[in-house]
Amino acid sequence: MPASHNQHDAKTYSATLIGCGKMGSAMMASWLENGLVSRVNVIDPSPLPVHLSDDPRVYYYPSYQGGIPTSDILILAVKPQILKEASQKIANDINDKTVLLSIAAGQRLSTLESIFGSDQPIIRTMPNTPAAIGKGVSVSVANTHVSLDQKEIADTLLRASGEHKWIKDEGLMDAVTALSGSGPAYLFHFIETLADAGEKLGLDADLSMSLARQTVIGSAALAEYDGGISAETLRKNVTSPGGTTQAALETLMDGRFQTILDEALNAAKKRSQELS
Ligand SMILES: NC(=O)c1ccc[n+]([C@@H]2O[C@H](COP(=O)([O-])OP(=O)(O)OC[C@H]3O[C@@H](n4cnc5c(N)ncnc54)[C@H](OP(=O)(O)O)[C@@H]3O)[C@@H](O)[C@H]2O)c1
Repeated sequence: MPASHNQHDAKTYSATLIGCGKMGSAMMASWLENGLVSRVNVIDPSPLPVHLSDDPRVYYYPSYQGGIPTSDILILAVKPQILKEASQKIANDINDKTVLLSIAAGQRLSTLESIFGSDQPIIRTMPNTPAAIGKGVSVSVANTHVSLDQKEIADTLLRASGEHKWIKDEGLMDAVTALSGSGPAYLFHFIETLADAGEKLGLDADLSMSLARQTVIGSAALAEYDGGISAETLRKNVTSPGGTTQAALETLMDGRFQTILDEALNAAKKRSQELS
């Protein structure tokens, strides 16, 4: 097993993180908080936030100079545009004992294999930003060289930031990116538009924003609390026949909202394909 053991005999892993921005730092914070890592080597030109750099398990390197101890897993969390450049610097020092996990949008397994070698175990993952508070959802696809033990390492680390699902068809990653990868931004925009609509009905800006925000927060919490109940049933539960909600839903469900979301997701999917 590639895992080491701590004093409580819980499995811990060694990790190397290339790129510690919004996603990388959120993911690392969840591993540290959940006691899943014995050591994390972090490579990033920007200094780490104090709450991470003060942790004795974190070893910070402002650039890759070689000589960094090998680890069970190496996470590539840089922007897609610089993934190749950042990968090429480390490619010669990585062997198949280390599983690579890339979260870069649109970057295919075949691109990574062309840099790290076709025998290298590689996982491509699409996380999302609620990972920062353990409420994310991530989806992964692995190449054929990833062992069951390596899948378990990835699964353990990714589940520390929320739900994690495996898919077999990499072709679906652009759709996953369009839905859950970019999805949090759609919901934040929904809050903005709901607040704007409230203002147009005469509510002042602050009150309207706070009602819109809390309505989305409360509804999401209710959907989580009633996890076994479908979204359709939850919607029907707040829709009395002939009431105010039904009046609004007759407009919202006349097809235009669905068309806009179809167009938005298609645009995101197209961009994800372009990035690759
Ligand atoms: N944000 C999201 O919602 C989201 C969702 C799903 C997937 N992703 C994917 O996650 C990846 C990271 O996104 P992000 O939003 O976390 O970006 P970010 O906040 O810009 O983080 C990238 C980090 O990489 C650093 N960096 C730049 N060059 C480097 C190098 N050569 N070696 C090591 N580190 C380097 C950057 O430092 P400087 O700032 O100093 O350049 C920055 O701290 C992207 O590939 C993105 O597609 C993001």
